[in-house]
Amino acid sequence: MSLAKLEFDEYVIEHLVDEHGLERFNALRGALKFGVEGAIPEGRTWIIYSRRDSRDCGYLRVVPFRDGEQELGFALIPEARGKGIMSAVLPRFVSMLNENFYTETSDQNIAAIRVIEKAGFKSCMPVHPEHVTPHGETVRTAAFRLAAP
Ligand SMILES: CC(C)(COP(=O)(O)OP(=O)(O)OC[C@H]1O[C@@H](n2cnc3c(N)ncnc32)[C@H](O)[C@@H]1OP(=O)(O)O)[C@@H](O)C(=O)NCCC(=O)NCCS
Repeated sequence: MSLAKLEFDEYVIEHLVDEHGLERFNALRGALKFGVEGAIPEGRTWIIYSRRDSRDCGYLRVVPFRDGEQELGFALIPEARGKGIMSAVLPRFVSMLNENFYTETSDQNIAAIRVIEKAGFKSCMPVHPEHVTPHGETVRTAAFRLAAP
């Protein structure tokens, strides 16, 4: 399957590859109210567009990590959270990429942990034992891996 675009149900997941994509991401960044680390060229970024809401509602990003793994990050705009969107999108996204993934979040981020586990990731030892939340609070890290089948 093409890595450029994935469409299913109400979602269109598009790889940002040009200036237009960068503009879309920058518009989304303002709405996210969640730290987005790193500059776009450091990783591969996809925007999640919701046809139901006719808007960009989140992003997925993978950045080369270590030992051939890709570090996964993702977030939705606040209005899009808690509606099952990432539960639907993440399993399709990781199977589209078919790579080895590592991801970290706060051990208190129940929604993130649920979507990560439902996408098939397994709990592992964190590379960074402490996690700083978008609010600047230092908490314990929950870490997960998914190996390509
Ligand atoms: C984390 C995030 C991507 C989850 O996506 P989502 O679409 O909101 O999650 P879903 O609606 O699919 O819910 C997933 C599960 O978490 C539960 N959940 C959702 N919001 C929750 C909350 N605030 N508190 C507790 N549980 C919650 C849901 O009930 C669901 O449980 P289930 O699997 O037992 O049915 C989204 O909330 C978000 O963008 N948060 C801010 C950014 C972030 O934390 N990114 C994580 C990487 S560090």
